Amino acid sequence: MAAMPYLLELLKIVSGALNADRPKVVSYVEQLAGRLEEAGDPVSARRLRRTLAEGKAKLMEMGPASVGTRLPVDSESRLDLADEERPTVDAVDLVLDSEHLEVLREFVGYVGAADRLLAEGVGISPSLLVFGPPGCGKTQLARFTAAQLGLPLLTARTDSLISSFLGSTAKNVRRLFEHAMSRPCVLFLDELDAIAKLRDDQHEMGELKRVVISLLQNIDALDQSTVLIGATNHEHLLDPAIWRRFAYHLKIGLPKEGGRRQLFQLFLSRHATQDVVILAASVAEGLTGSDIRQVSEDSIRAAIVHGNETIDECDVLRRILRLRLPEWGARGENMPELVRRVREMNPDVFTYRRLAALFGVSLGHVSKLIHQRERGDGKGH
Ligand SMILES: Nc1ncnc2c1ncn2[C@@H]1O[C@H](COP(=O)(O)OP(=O)(O)O)[C@@H](O)[C@H]1O
Ligand SMILES: [Mg+2]
Repeated sequence: MAAMPYLLELLKIVSGALNADRPKVVSYVEQLAGRLEEAGDPVSARRLRRTLAEGKAKLMEMGPASVGTRLPVDSESRLDLADEERPTVDAVDLVLDSEHLEVLREFVGYVGAADRLLAEGVGISPSLLVFGPPGCGKTQLARFTAAQLGLPLLTARTDSLISSFLGSTAKNVRRLFEHAMSRPCVLFLDELDAIAKLRDDQHEMGELKRVVISLLQNIDALDQSTVLIGATNHEHLLDPAIWRRFAYHLKIGLPKEGGRRQLFQLFLSRHATQDVVILAASVAEGLTGSDIRQVSEDSIRAAIVHGNETIDECDVLRRILRLRLPEWGARGENMPELVRRVREMNPDVFTYRRLAALFGVSLGHVSKLIHQRERGDGKGH
């Protein structure tokens, strides 16, 4: 087979992109467009040049500092202090209750109107603190927001910023913020709880003070083109002075039934019927978005292994019950009690037929177990 044409250009572009070497990408895309034109394909050449022009316009918006900017590293360990990504709108799905979505929309609208507000002399503080239990979408929300704003997301995991570099934290925090300020971006301080954990350790009290002070100073020094998002699982442990630095506060709790439906729909997509999605959502109370993703992915894997197109209703219900009921793992020993508990969770969903299938016993057996209990209750024990 003949070698692929333009392989050289392609390889240079790929390597330039992987090394974040924008000038290299630009010059080889130009060269490729020229060669396509010579070869009699002006349409493709034009498309390439248009893409390039759009990309260049973005670069101009981002300012010259973005070209070739390296991520900040800890001076001793050389480890990155942050990750950078450019989330896109179609690649980040976020499920939020409508009231929370409202707050987020307001925030995004406010940041988008920054120029107009500033022109009117209205100061802005584009900062948002997200809090709530783990696995409910805080990190996802930061990615979603960056995508909505069309800005790069610079994520600093606070624990790695502090714990590995005790002593040089203040310097690291300053470096991180300087990097963030070198062009418009969303600076995301994830897992802010890490700061509070220092409080548990007597030896770290001094370090805790230094970290909090340096964070406060750096937050205060941010200009309005840096959007700041913070996330924590334990808002009550957060230093009140840090809490006050954020203009918007958003609590993301466990998903409600509507949210769970959207999440199952998102993660099961074509692998489940609508009925199964509704059923799963109705019994998955107490599960986080992250749990729902896990349950969905495990069910899909099981279906594929068994050669099925769609997931099995009982399989997904069992996985949900395993997360909701700690005693599920030992169901062999205590089946009667467990059958009754599951039945009580939701008698409409857990019909005798479903219980029989879930526990792998006969309908008659299920009926006997449940009636035993009802007779027991009737005697007033
Ligand atoms: N509300 C949600 N919307 C969409 N996906 C979610 C949501 N909550 C959790 N997830 C899924 O679970 C994973 C973990 O969520 P994450 O945002 O890291 O939670 P947190 O930061 O609150 O601990 C995400 O990658 C996403 O796939
Ligand atoms: Mg997170």
